[in-house]
Amino acid sequence: MTHKPVIAGARAGHPRAVSVMPGWDRPAEALPQAPPDPRRHRSVEHDVGGQHLPQSGAAIAPRGTMTDEPAEQALTPRQQREREYYNQYSQQMKDARVDLAAIAGKEQRPWNPYWHLFALVKERYTPGSRLLDFGCGWGTNSAVFAHIGYQVQGFDISERNLEVARQVAEKEGIADQVNFSVQRAEALEYPDGHFDVVAGVDILHHVEISSAITECRRVLREGGVAFFIEPLNNPLFDYVRNTRVVRRFCPNDASFERHITCDERKLTNKDLAVIGRIFPRHRIDRFRVASRLQVLFPGDGMAWEKLDYSLRFVPLYGSLAGTIVLTLEKKAEDHKSSACSL
Ligand SMILES: C[S@@+](CC[C@H](N)C(=O)[O-])C[C@H]1O[C@@H](n2cnc3c(N)ncnc32)[C@H](O)[C@@H]1O
Repeated sequence: MTHKPVIAGARAGHPRAVSVMPGWDRPAEALPQAPPDPRRHRSVEHDVGGQHLPQSGAAIAPRGTMTDEPAEQALTPRQQREREYYNQYSQQMKDARVDLAAIAGKEQRPWNPYWHLFALVKERYTPGSRLLDFGCGWGTNSAVFAHIGYQVQGFDISERNLEVARQVAEKEGIADQVNFSVQRAEALEYPDGHFDVVAGVDILHHVEISSAITECRRVLREGGVAFFIEPLNNPLFDYVRNTRVVRRFCPNDASFERHITCDERKLTNKDLAVIGRIFPRHRIDRFRVASRLQVLFPGDGMAWEKLDYSLRFVPLYGSLAGTIVLTLEKKAEDHKSSACSL
């Protein structure tokens, strides 16, 4: 992930983190058609300099136990590396702060994808709703969701992240509304149809998409909705971004400082096709086109986001987006009819 170690609300207003190009006030966009053979194994898309962190002997509890205790079940090499990375990275998140600005209602920032996601989650709230924070990390987003009123469950592959998440919940006074457990996105332990809402922030690009999204659908109730915010690969931009000369000035290899793991990879249109096959009812809001340039012109990042927002109806502008917010709805009849957009 490329954002700095900040929290939900702060990141939501972070000038580096976001921009615009949503389509929520124009006809929603359909996901591309899925390839016939969804991939089971993925490669790292960018050359990350091969940072291979030490592997841990401890693994994740078998399905149904929901415990942080190590078990015999082996993690995939990718899951092990992610776990090792975040068990270390969590140390710098110990003082993570929860910023509630995006749900306070005093201000709206539709040009910011994080604010947009929080607004969507807030809109869906009804008393007693159960929300799953999908890959909850250090729990700052879980705290925001709990402050909206949700009963929140969060899972993550890193038990150290969850220790921080529990401390955050205590500090925020919402410990009775949240529950965290070590789980893998690709094989969740929750019962079918358990959640009204699933929310995932910067998580899908760390996991095996097909199985994680299949699990996401399984644990959602009929009529439930999942929201994800993710970075999106753009062939043109990312080609330039990954040239040696650009990387020399703006490195994007794995590091704790830049918060980039060696296995993370931006979503591609093929990933979107896989997601669209599992969730035929979907919507994509696109952000971050001109606002990518804000790194070159330090100043008011929000101005760039607003520029993107004002240009969102320009044809093909959204195809250059670097961040997307996905809305995925589960309906029983989904797979009897053809794909449709929300
Ligand atoms: C970029 S962080 C996002 C954390 C959190 N959603 C947030 O925005 O603060 C990615 C998270 O994915 C978790 N993760 C990576 N692979 C995972 C997997 N296979 N199953 C569950 N969690 C995973 C990491 O431990 C890490 O907490």
